[in-house]
Amino acid sequence: MSEREVSVDRTPLIVGNWKMNHTRATARAFCAELGELHAERPLPAGIEIGIAPPFTSLDVVGDGLAELPVFLAAQDVHWEPSGAFTGEIAPGMLSELGCRMVIVGHSERRHLFGETDERVARKVAAVRDAGMVPILCVGETEDERDADRTRAVVESQLRKGLGKIQPGAPERLVVAYEPVWAIGTGRVATPQQVEEVHGFLRDVLASIGGQAFAGGVRILYGGSVKPGNAAGLAVLPHVDGFLVGGASLEASTFAELVHLLGGAPETGA
Ligand code: 13P
Repeated sequence: MSEREVSVDRTPLIVGNWKMNHTRATARAFCAELGELHAERPLPAGIEIGIAPPFTSLDVVGDGLAELPVFLAAQDVHWEPSGAFTGEIAPGMLSELGCRMVIVGHSERRHLFGETDERVARKVAAVRDAGMVPILCVGETEDERDADRTRAVVESQLRKGLGKIQPGAPERLVVAYEPVWAIGTGRVATPQQVEEVHGFLRDVLASIGGQAFAGGVRILYGGSVKPGNAAGLAVLPHVDGFLVGGASLEASTFAELVHLLGGAPETGA
């Protein structure tokens, strides 16, 4: 396709997005179980693993993961540092709790809560200003795919989402491709569909920040990722990991996905 194949190390990354699931009590139990699983079979080194719980469990999960190679992430954020914004959470509040990454522009925020590209762009900038890494989500609806508009939609979301920042170091950005029709539906995109869009997104990143930048930004796939389909997606050249919803809610399933991404043999240790 193009000369986008710049050899830059992209550490595989998997982030569990719990959405509006788990109480503090069940979040604590998840962490305890993940700890036991890690003691039996260590989570693989050489990949990065994150959990994005609801705001109400950030402290519990932060404490519960303290001894594990798993970092804390958040599901959303407001762009202002403080002020009269009832119900909102500021970037500094998240970094204070130890969050390293923040999901921005998830399709549920865009489609269920009216999040605009303008707001997404402000959030991306605010997360970066607070020293955290935004996970910028893009993805087309089924109608948009049927109308052959996938590329136009994800390019627009990506360009607008990055519209208020300088590209900077590639580690300071993660992009997640989540086709809306694949989220929570059990309809995972085919490896061909995923690789095509990821390659295209990398081309767009190259036109924004150059080849070295594009070669270093992690592009995650999200949408009905499960242990049964993850291995076939993880091997794709432009897939650098996963953003996982439903399959991240149980520690054993999440750990299985982590091992699949880490490439550890079944009995590894
Ligand atoms: P599912 O894995 O439940 O399809 O959700 C994907 C997602 O939206 C992750 O952010």
